[in-house]
Amino acid sequence: MTKKGVVWKTESLVQTFLQGVRGGIPFAAEQINIMLRLVAARGIPVERFLDLGCGNGILSQAILAHYPQAKGILVDFSEPMLKEAKNQLSGDASSLQFALVDFGAPEWVNSVTSKTPFDVIVSGLAIHHQPDTRKKELYAEIFNLLKPGGLFINMEHVASHTDWIESVWDNFFIDSLYDFHERKRVKKSREQISEEFAHRQDKEANILAPVELQCEWLCEIGFKDVDCYFKVFEFAVFGGRRPKS
Ligand SMILES: C[S@@+](CC[C@H](N)C(=O)[O-])C[C@H]1O[C@@H](n2cnc3c(N)ncnc32)[C@H](O)[C@@H]1O
Repeated sequence: MTKKGVVWKTESLVQTFLQGVRGGIPFAAEQINIMLRLVAARGIPVERFLDLGCGNGILSQAILAHYPQAKGILVDFSEPMLKEAKNQLSGDASSLQFALVDFGAPEWVNSVTSKTPFDVIVSGLAIHHQPDTRKKELYAEIFNLLKPGGLFINMEHVASHTDWIESVWDNFFIDSLYDFHERKRVKKSREQISEEFAHRQDKEANILAPVELQCEWLCEIGFKDVDCYFKVFEFAVFGGRRPKS
């Protein structure tokens, strides 16, 4: 069991994230749109996909909206999050499997191997809780679970290069969270949101790595078409394809 990230097993953080943060992520819709464009660019329907650290299943839901025949496995080690995913995706339950699994140890692959290989593996804001050595191992495990031509997309929290850039990003995120609360007519001052952001429960669990470094790892593993396809400060959409042969 990895220690980092276990805060996600608490109901309070799950609800704070789902109700107060996810919808306030800057350019969240654009990030999902980029993911879907990359998936569509393969030119063939998705038959099998894996959502790693699925949370409430937001990425799976987007894939299923375009590929309703797809069969998916949603992996998360947080019981309250998996419960939210099951509720959210109850209409697609027959084509989905939900696995309460910690991807922090290599054995996690045993829980999905019966459904491999995958056309697409996606992950959203989850792998950054792993130490860098484990991130790279995990990317290699993901590579081996993909079909030839299969695609890995990581929508991830990555490191700023300087403290100044980090502070600009933090202020951008706080403004976006403030706007999100205004839209939902939840009365909170910007100061209050800023205070909550500074003391967020999951902050200590972050082990951020620069996106350039993570793309290098993907290339070393053997992924092709590796790139950071979209980035706004610390939120990046990056990944690559397993070669066809
Ligand atoms: C910030 S949430 C993001 C959820 C969702 N992917 C999204 O984009 O909204 C991170 C999720 O990763 C899960 N997670 C973090 N570390 C994990 C691990 N080692 N194994 C399985 N799930 C993990 C958490 O439980 C949580 O549901």
